[in-house]
Amino acid sequence: MNTNATLSSADLMALEDAHGAHNYHPLPVVLDRGEGVHVWDVEGKKYFDFLSAYSAVNQGHCHPHIVGALQRQSQRLTLTSRAFCNSNLGPFEKFMTDLFGYDKVLPMNSGVEGGETSNKLARKWGYQKKGIPENKARILFAHGNFWGRTLAAISSSDDPLSYKDFGPYMPGYDLIPYNDLDALERELKDPNVCAFMVEPIQGEAGVVVPDEGYLAGVRRLCTKYNVLFIADEVQTGIARTGRLLATDYEDARPDLLVLGKALSGGVFPVSAVLADNEVMMCLKPGEHGSTFGGNPLACAVAQAALEVVIDEELAANANKLGMRFREAMQELVESTELVSAVRGKGLLNAIVINDKPDSSTAWDLCVALKDNGLLAKPTHGNIIRFAPPLVMTAAQLEDCIAIIAKTVREFAKA
Ligand SMILES: Cc1ncc(COP(=O)(O)O)c(C=O)c1O
Repeated sequence: MNTNATLSSADLMALEDAHGAHNYHPLPVVLDRGEGVHVWDVEGKKYFDFLSAYSAVNQGHCHPHIVGALQRQSQRLTLTSRAFCNSNLGPFEKFMTDLFGYDKVLPMNSGVEGGETSNKLARKWGYQKKGIPENKARILFAHGNFWGRTLAAISSSDDPLSYKDFGPYMPGYDLIPYNDLDALERELKDPNVCAFMVEPIQGEAGVVVPDEGYLAGVRRLCTKYNVLFIADEVQTGIARTGRLLATDYEDARPDLLVLGKALSGGVFPVSAVLADNEVMMCLKPGEHGSTFGGNPLACAVAQAALEVVIDEELAANANKLGMRFREAMQELVESTELVSAVRGKGLLNAIVINDKPDSSTAWDLCVALKDNGLLAKPTHGNIIRFAPPLVMTAAQLEDCIAIIAKTVREFAKA
């Protein structure tokens, strides 16, 4: 059902263009409905969603278990603020800490707030437990990182699109190469370093997968130099890469685990930071918070979202379908000039278009994919990320592979 039935896609895009800030450049499609792995535009055309709202909709669109939790809770109690306790928070916190194996959880809303929270916790720990002199704490990040759009997040970015003309920047942030344990060890020797924050796979950078052993190496070095390992699993977490967490692939339990996106099943913004008491108990009442963080509606939605991931064994499905998907993309790499590489884990994958990063080929290919019924978006010029909902069936995946292969081959010929 089109809730704005009198308006066409063109009308609705014109409204966005005229009245909305131009801080996004969306593919020209106006979505009106979603169910499982599918979305429909206002004219009723059906698409496979191969982006899943940047991995927030791992459980599929409008999952009945999650929407049911939202509906029930929204008629009972939605927000109390943390000035009072609420009857969902404690049970949700127990559920989260049991599932992920940490002493404590701190719920927030957006992914970037989760990142900010982890950085504040790391600094507090650095001063109170590690004995770093006042205002000297440093946090390390990897080149190519992305953790959102706040001033702190862009201060650690090396992408000019993110940081240019938004200075001055947050002090105490430094960059080192990704996937480089020697570079990490050199910096960790500075006793003022309190944390290294890193994505297990760099999503926005173009699904950059580090060498096997990198995450375990990060864990080992952080332990050796008494530095906190912050894993930003906002995009990789919650079954996306074929395990509940991408850090589960190695002996790499982070000190601070940041989750967001699919923690809500795409229904309501929820993020969280998990840590043990040694770190989390550094925060005292009044030192951090958010009006909406830990609200009863978010707790109900997030718990339902995680139940779906577990009950429907979405990690195992992502693992199985991911292998088939990369195998099919590898055939394209070998048989066409257009695709030069495929990489990823589980259902977080990308193909590299054999073209210059600043060409429009990847964008044009995504427009052609859209015309053929599959929605994906380039990330960083010539890279196309493929991240469908994890509730996809093997048969649906074959349909998607056929669409991608046909589109790529048509495109390569043209
Ligand atoms: C790895 C990672 N961290 C953090 C964020 C920020 O999440 P949000 O957009 O919910 O603030 C993103 C968003 O894409 C992300 O990919």
